[in-house]
Amino acid sequence: MARKIIIDTDPGQDDAVAILLALASRELDVLGITTVAGNVPLDLTTRNARIVCEIADRPGVRVFAGCDRPLTRKLVTAEYVHGKSGLDGIALFEPTMPLQSAHAVDFLIETLRREAPGTVTLCPLGPLTNIATAFTRAPDIVDRVAEIVLMGGAYFEVGNVTPAAEFNIYVDPEAADIVFRAGAPLVVVPLDVTHKALTSRAWIEQLRAMGTRVGNAVAGLTDFFERFDMAKYGSQGAPLHDACVIGYLLKPELFTGRHINVTIETAGEFTTGMTVADWWRVTGREPNAMFLGGIDRDGFYAILTERLARL
Ligand code: RIB
Ligand code: CA
Repeated sequence: MARKIIIDTDPGQDDAVAILLALASRELDVLGITTVAGNVPLDLTTRNARIVCEIADRPGVRVFAGCDRPLTRKLVTAEYVHGKSGLDGIALFEPTMPLQSAHAVDFLIETLRREAPGTVTLCPLGPLTNIATAFTRAPDIVDRVAEIVLMGGAYFEVGNVTPAAEFNIYVDPEAADIVFRAGAPLVVVPLDVTHKALTSRAWIEQLRAMGTRVGNAVAGLTDFFERFDMAKYGSQGAPLHDACVIGYLLKPELFTGRHINVTIETAGEFTTGMTVADWWRVTGREPNAMFLGGIDRDGFYAILTERLARL
């Protein structure tokens, strides 16, 4: 029986790789893709999600547009990383697959109420605005969530948008606070992991050698996406942040972490958006998250490459 998931996303090149990996994996049943404003505004993340589904030749995937701004704050985007389109690196096109008419938040609520409790996993890959809005509007769905596996936060790796905060949490700290306090089983894939999941020139050439639409698209996307991190960190490749979430669903044994308390800073003068991870368990606060710290990078790229070759 395939694992039912909903991907909540702000594509973004790394979101695109996560979506492709999920669509290529028969272990996963993607009930829907919900889009949120983040890397780029909502109209672009929503268009981009449909572009990615069409590149995967999966026009039947249901895509729902969600919240176009954070709960209370002004939207902060990341065109400086992802390009103006949010999906720079490939020849873009106007998707023809339909956009569902329901709002993403209504889809989240209705799906969690319809599916059996404990059978649907949420995979947020962007700011947590949609998830927090759904939990606030329909608190009854929280206990029905099987697990939330999200990309966000940082501890030993510190922030990537401020010295203290990672982008997905920073854009909507109030939403993150609601999700982290909700009580649903939570797995956090932070920069501590994703900065170890770097692409390489050899891998990008391997993708091109596939000679497929997907291989070429992922090569183009990561070729563009890596330039920012290589310039900023002097690293040798791009961190495929969001794809690590799907990698965890497929092979959790490739990851290590600790079940600890993670609290979101929402009022720090310099630290707003920080995931205050109690890695050494000094606060006495109740553990609420499996906070990951390690990844078998080569094992992750092995399954990622094998699955992308299937599309
Ligand atoms: O900080 C990395 C996260 O922010 C990733 O999800 C990336 O897509 C951006 O949304
Ligand atoms: Ca993202």
